[in-house]
Amino acid sequence: MSEEEGEEVGDPLFADQDPIFARKELLHVGHVPEENRIVGRDEEIQSVADEIGAIVRGDPPNNVMIYGKTGTGKSLVSRHVASRAQNAAEANGIACGVVYVDCSEADTETRATRKLAMELKRATEYEREIPTRGVGTMEYYRHVWRILDDHYDALVVILDEIDKLTNSNILMQLSRAREANKTGSYIGVVGISNKIQYRESLDERIDSSFGHRELFFHPYDADQLREIMRNREDAFQRGVLASGTIQLCAALAAKKHGDARKAIDILKEAGELARRNDDGTVTKEHIRQAQDIAEINRVEELTSGGTIHAKLALYALSSLVIVGEDGTHSTRQIYERYEQMCGVAGFEPVTENGLYKQLKEQAFLGVIESNKTGGGRSQGSYLLHRLVTDPRHIVKAVRRDASLDDLPTVEELSSMEGTRNGSQSTLGTNR
Ligand SMILES: Nc1ncnc2c1ncn2[C@@H]1O[C@H](COP(=O)(O)OP(=O)(O)OP(=O)(O)O)[C@@H](O)[C@H]1O
Ligand SMILES: [Mg+2]
Repeated sequence: MSEEEGEEVGDPLFADQDPIFARKELLHVGHVPEENRIVGRDEEIQSVADEIGAIVRGDPPNNVMIYGKTGTGKSLVSRHVASRAQNAAEANGIACGVVYVDCSEADTETRATRKLAMELKRATEYEREIPTRGVGTMEYYRHVWRILDDHYDALVVILDEIDKLTNSNILMQLSRAREANKTGSYIGVVGISNKIQYRESLDERIDSSFGHRELFFHPYDADQLREIMRNREDAFQRGVLASGTIQLCAALAAKKHGDARKAIDILKEAGELARRNDDGTVTKEHIRQAQDIAEINRVEELTSGGTIHAKLALYALSSLVIVGEDGTHSTRQIYERYEQMCGVAGFEPVTENGLYKQLKEQAFLGVIESNKTGGGRSQGSYLLHRLVTDPRHIVKAVRRDASLDDLPTVEELSSMEGTRNGSQSTLGTNR
């Protein structure tokens, strides 16, 4: 369904069923754009290719860990390079498998190896049954080694959202497999994470057998975001996008951090708003409203993998901002508010250092920004945190967690003492 030719926008019989979207799937996160539509990632594509590329010549590849904020194209680039490596290897007579494992779904070693075995079976003529339950991790590994030996010279395993894995044994198993005579195939692992804490803890999790390079993907700028969205304009019926909408959308997404997923989400959400309101065109106003909805969704998504304390930390900072203490806040100030909020929600607070780690993670994800005070090396310098996200969106997203819905709402916070000029008028959509 994804490949259509030229300018066609689908069967005219169904064309007027959706006045807004023509090919909505182009706005889906999992959509992999064609090669010439991957914007501004040539260097990253080359770097990933340099690490795993030896496979194409029948040599052992490097493992690689890719880090970067959300929506910077990590998943996209990895899949893209892996599939090109597979084709290039095949052209050289080398049988190369590619398996993509989303560790946010397959979050234990057993689930991840099961997924690996199942995907390999699906791609080959492997005749044995692989039980989906009742067997241990080792059994799945055995299937994997057998399939590799029967069908492949090499394998690329993409472990996306690798920080969600409860342990990192799979990295050692895969990297030692050849040495340990489990299989004769070369295996290259591409690990992906948007958690900087994971990088810091990786050395404790693994031993030296998982040698790997590190790559960092940087956020997009407004021009690149604009081009990414232009390339997906065909998602909409012709003439539906009012002029300047993509521009605005790119500018809004670039202002936070250059998150392509966010940009595409805003565009999709704006189209849906227009459709729901029976508006014939998607306007800048739709984009602005969609930005709010997309941001709440995004904060929820970003914090959903984190602990309850990450949410409470964000909530504490947001509530400080909403009740009128705009600007930056020290870890201490946030901690005091956080302790109060733990009381309200009925959770035992973590230590101040624990809270500091949560804040650091959020800073990496781009929800907040943390900077040292000017004290330089003197002992007096400490961290100040500032929200990059609308505090009302954070409060709404955090309160969606059923165990935190006792926390005060935006309205309740706004009516507390010290409120600055009430809340702004665009609170709108109650999602
Ligand atoms: N350079 C690009 N050109 C075209 N589309 C892109 C580009 N980068 C990202 N996208 C699109 O933006 C969305 C998000 O990209 P992707 O999923 O690769 O981000 P990510 O870095 O893996 O983010 P996360 O850490 O949140 O998983 C996808 O729909 C992807 O197709
Ligand atoms: Mg991803």
